[in-house]
Amino acid sequence: MKPPRTRFVCQECGTEAPKWLGRCPDCDAWNPFIEEQVTQTSTVQTPSRPALTASDGSHLYTDIDTLERPRISVGITELDRVLGGGLVPGSLVLLGGEPGIGKSTLLLQATGYVAEQVGPVLYSSGEESEHQVKSRGERLGLGEIPLYLLAETCLEKIIEELKRLKPALVVIDSIQTVFSDQLQSAPGSISQVRESARLLLIAAKQYNIPIFLVGHVTKEGGLAGPKALEHIVDTVLYFEGERYQSHRVVRAVKNRFGAVSELGVFEMTESGLQPVENPSKLFLSQRSVEAPGSAVLCCMEGTRPILVEVQALVSPTAYGTARRTASGLDQQRLALLLAVLEKRVSLNVISHDVFVNVAGGIVVTEPASDLGVIAAVASSICDRPIRSDTATFGEVGLAGEVRSTSQAIHRVREVAQMGFRRCIVPEANRMALEAPDGCTLVGVKTVAEAMQEMIGLGT
Ligand code: TYD
Ligand code: MG
Repeated sequence: MKPPRTRFVCQECGTEAPKWLGRCPDCDAWNPFIEEQVTQTSTVQTPSRPALTASDGSHLYTDIDTLERPRISVGITELDRVLGGGLVPGSLVLLGGEPGIGKSTLLLQATGYVAEQVGPVLYSSGEESEHQVKSRGERLGLGEIPLYLLAETCLEKIIEELKRLKPALVVIDSIQTVFSDQLQSAPGSISQVRESARLLLIAAKQYNIPIFLVGHVTKEGGLAGPKALEHIVDTVLYFEGERYQSHRVVRAVKNRFGAVSELGVFEMTESGLQPVENPSKLFLSQRSVEAPGSAVLCCMEGTRPILVEVQALVSPTAYGTARRTASGLDQQRLALLLAVLEKRVSLNVISHDVFVNVAGGIVVTEPASDLGVIAAVASSICDRPIRSDTATFGEVGLAGEVRSTSQAIHRVREVAQMGFRRCIVPEANRMALEAPDGCTLVGVKTVAEAMQEMIGLGT
C-alpha cells in the first residue's frame, strides 16, 4: 500500500511545500514547516464542502436589498466603539492578544451584558473548565443570566450546540484549541485554525449569530497563523498594553463594518476591565510637569484625538557610536527627526545618546507627532523645560518645514478641553482654524520657529 501523501505547511503564513524547508520563502520565518497529511484535507475540498451562500447564479446589483440590521451593543462603550458601533449580527470577530492581557475577562463581561439584555449566550472554552469560567464570572459580578458554558474543543460539537441553542452571541476561547475531526492535523496547526475559522464563519452567516474568536499571539507578536485568519474573519481586534500597567488598549486592525485604527481604552481593576472615557487624562496623569525633555502631543487614534506625553533623554555618548532608542514610536522616524534637528536647528545630536519614550505604553504612528518628539529631544539637549500649559502637533519635513495636519480642529478641541492654554500648530492649520476658548494657537512654519516658541531657542 502506498504511504499517505504528506505536505509541509508553514505555521506562520500557510504556505505549502512538497518537502521540508528550513525557511519559508513567503514570510521568511525560520523553521515553520510542519508535516500534514493530504488525504483528509482533500475530502474537505469535495463538492460537499459547505459554502458561504448557496449560489443560484449572479444577481443584478440594483435587485439586491440593502440590509439594515441593527447592531447589538455589548454594553461596554469602548468595545462598542472599536467594533464600529456595536456587533453586527452574523459577523465573525477575532480578538487577539498576549496571554494574561484580559481577553477572556473582556469577553465574559460582554457576554454578561448580552445575555442579560439580548438573549442566551454560548461561551465555549477550550482552555478553562466551566468552574474556572464561573469563578471569574462571580468576580465580575455576573448574576442569574442565560449564559451557557461549554468546555469543548471539538468544532463539530460546538457548532451542534450553536444550532441547538441559537444563541444571541457565541464566544470561542480560543480558536487555537479548537479542532475539526474532519482534519488529521494537530489542534493549533494552521490547517486546523483556518478550517475551524472558515466553518465558524459559515455558521455565523447561516444562523445570523455574531461569533467572537479569541486568538493567541505568537512570541513574534502576530496571531498564530495570522495571514490565514485575518482574511477569513470580518473584524480583527488586537488587545495591547503593558502587563505591568493597569490600562489596556483594544485596537481594530481590520473591520468590514467600521473604521480601522479605532481605539478602545480600558483599565484593569479588581472587578474586571472598566472603560476609560477620557484617555488623555489617563495618559497624562503621571506627567513630569516642567521637567526638561517632556512634551505633550496630540495624535489621532481612529476618529478620536488623544494627548500623550513623549519623553526624551539626551546625554553625551560615552562610547564610539551614539545610541538611539525609541519606544512607542518608529526608530527610523526618530533617526530622521534627529537629522532634521542637527541640520536645520544646529543642535548637536550626533555625539549624544538619545532615548525617546512615549509614556503609558501607547504607540504613536502618525507623522503629526513629529513636532512633539522634536520638541522633547531639543528640550532635553538644551535642558530647558517646555511650559506645562503647552501642547503641540505637526508633521516635520526634511527641509525643516512644519507641514499641516489633517483633523486639526478635533486635535485643538481636545487640547483646549484638557486644560492646555497654548497649542503650537502648523501655520497652515492655524490660518484655517478658530482658536477654542481659553487656548491660544501659535502657528509655526519651521522647526526653528517651533523650537523658539516652545523652549525659547535662539532668544
Ligand atoms: P484573562 O482574561 O484570563 O486573560 P487572557 O484571557 O487574555 O489570557 O485575565 C488576565 C489577568 O487579569 C489575570 O492575570 C487576572 C487579571 N484580572 C484582574 O485584575 N481583575 C479581574 O477582575 C479579572 C477577572 C482578572
Ligand atoms: Mg483566556
